[in-house]
Amino acid sequence: MKFPDMVHALKPNPKSHIQENWRILDFFSHHPESLHMFTFLFDDIGIPQDYRHMDGSGVHTYTLIDKAGKAHYVKFHWKPTCGVKNLLEDEAITVGGANHSHATQDLYDSIAAGNYPEWKVFIQVMDPADEDRFDFDPLDVTKTWPEDILPLQPVGRMVLSKNIDNFFAENEQLAFCPSVIVPGIYYSDYKLLQTRIFSYSDTQKHRLGPNYLQLPANAPKCVHHNNHHEGFMNFMHRDEEVNYFPSRFDPARHAEKYPIPTAICSGKRDKIWFLCVWVMLIIISLWFLNYCIVTVHYCIDPLHQTGKNALLNAGLRPCLIQGPNMRSAAFGSHTGRRRDSHPLIFLLFYTNTHNMLIIFRLHNNHNNRLCAATG
Ligand code: HEM
Repeated sequence: MKFPDMVHALKPNPKSHIQENWRILDFFSHHPESLHMFTFLFDDIGIPQDYRHMDGSGVHTYTLIDKAGKAHYVKFHWKPTCGVKNLLEDEAITVGGANHSHATQDLYDSIAAGNYPEWKVFIQVMDPADEDRFDFDPLDVTKTWPEDILPLQPVGRMVLSKNIDNFFAENEQLAFCPSVIVPGIYYSDYKLLQTRIFSYSDTQKHRLGPNYLQLPANAPKCVHHNNHHEGFMNFMHRDEEVNYFPSRFDPARHAEKYPIPTAICSGKRDKIWFLCVWVMLIIISLWFLNYCIVTVHYCIDPLHQTGKNALLNAGLRPCLIQGPNMRSAAFGSHTGRRRDSHPLIFLLFYTNTHNMLIIFRLHNNHNNRLCAATG
C-alpha cells in the first residue's frame, strides 16, 4: 500500500511543517510509474488557468454493462467547451499572488453571470476480451488509452448552472465516493479502485457521522426507501411500525435488478502471473504425457537393460542414474536406440529422468542394491 506514503511525501515536512519539493521528488523518484504524470505536471499544461478551462477525467477504468449482461471497459473524459487554458510559471505567481482563490472566484462569477461552465462528456470503450492485447495494463491508473485505437465518443455534456447558497452545507459536507455508481456502471477489477471503494465511506462515517447519507447534500433526490435510520445524529422523522423488509404490511418491493459481473475479484493484474500459470500447465501436461510414454516403454520391455546395464553398478550414488538419461533426452540417444532419445529435449529432461528413476526402482526390486549408475 503506497498511498499513505505518497500522502506523507506530499504533505509538509513533519519536522518544520513546510511543504518541500525534495521530499516529493525523493518519493516519486522511486516510482517509475509516476513519470507519465510528471511529464504533464512539468509540461505547459501543468498549471490550469482555472477550473473552467481544464479537462476532467474519471481516472479509473470502470465497466459499462448492458441489460443483457455484456460488459465493456470504459474511461470517462470531460472536455471544457471554452477550451483548455494554462498559466506559465510567472503568470501563476502573479495571478495566485493577487488572489489565492482566483479559480473559485472565476467559477463563482461565471455561474452568477449566467456564463455557465460546460464540459462535453466522452467515453472510450474497450472489449475486456482485448485486455491483454496491449503493451500496457488498461486498468492501470498511471496509463491513458491511445485515442487513435480507442476513439473518444461523445455521450453528453455537463453544465454547472447554479451556485451553492451555503458553502458548508452544500460543499464541505459532500461525500463523494468511487463506490457510488448507477445501474449500468460497475467497477473494474483493479486494486487501487477496489481500495477506494471502501475507504471513502469509512472516512465519511467518521468525518460526517454514520447518517451522512441523510444530509440534504448527499441524500438521493429520487424516491427511495431504506431502513437505515438509527445511530448518531439521525434526523429523519419516521412514524411507521414496520422498519424491516420484506413485510406484508409494507408495499416496498425490490428495485429492478441489473446485471453485474459474476467474476470474483482477484486483484492480480500482472500478465507475468498468467504467463507463469500457462507455463506451469504446459510443463505439468508434458510431464504427464512423458510419464505415460516412459511407463508404456517399460511395461512393454520391463527388463529393458540395453544401455542401462552399464549404468547399474553397486556402490555408486543413486542419483547418478539420471545422468545418462539426461544426456539422451537432451542430446539424443546415447545408446543408439531411438526410444532413448526424446524430441521434447530440454524442457523434459528433468521429468523424464525423474520417471526413469522411479521405474528403475520398481523394476529392480529383486536387486537389493539400490539402482545405481556409473553416470
Ligand atoms: C487515482 C487515485 C485517487 C484519486 C484520483 C483520488 C481523489 C480523491 C479526491 C478528489 C478526494 C476528495 C473527495 C471529496 O472532496 O469529497 C479524495 C478523498 C479521499 N481519498 Fe482519494 N483518490 C485516489 C486514491 C485514493 C486511495 C488509493 C485511497 C485509499 C485507499 C483514497 C482515500 C481517500 C479518502 C479516505 C478520502 C477522504 C474522503 C472523505 O472524507 O470524503 N484515495 N480522493
